[in-house]
Amino acid sequence: MADNNPETDSPIIIGCDHAAYALKDKVVEYLQSIGRSVEDVGTHGPSSVNYTDYGMKVASAISSGKNKCGILICGTGLGMSMIANRYPNVRAALCSESFSARMSRLHNNANILVMGARVIGESLALDMVRIWLETPFEGGRHLERIQMFETL
Ligand code: RB5
Repeated sequence: MADNNPETDSPIIIGCDHAAYALKDKVVEYLQSIGRSVEDVGTHGPSSVNYTDYGMKVASAISSGKNKCGILICGTGLGMSMIANRYPNVRAALCSESFSARMSRLHNNANILVMGARVIGESLALDMVRIWLETPFEGGRHLERIQMFETL
């Protein structure tokens, strides 16, 4: 399994829909402020779009190995997480509190963090992004478990 520790220098690919562009812009700003390079695939404004289009852009980049980690945000995070997890090699974790964001790295080696802009506020979102990026995968028995579902 390829190393996809978000601590690496791989550019973080990020996408959202109209419900989440304002939070996405804050996340991009935060990532740049900590020196991470970002590929922002949009959307960039409030006009209604299909979350699927943006979810597919990010998930396909992770699935193919073009990017090692990504962030997806829609209104609830539900649609983004559903579409992303259909792609091979994608482990998208929908999180709305910091404990799960941390555990999604430690135990699940999540390579996409998904959030709901209508569910959580900006400061929690940025805190989760920071924790998610700082937390390594534990490997060991957790690697075996991930490998089991990746062969489905
Ligand atoms: C858009 O209205 C909303 O459906 C979308 O952001 C998301 O919550 C879907 O799961």
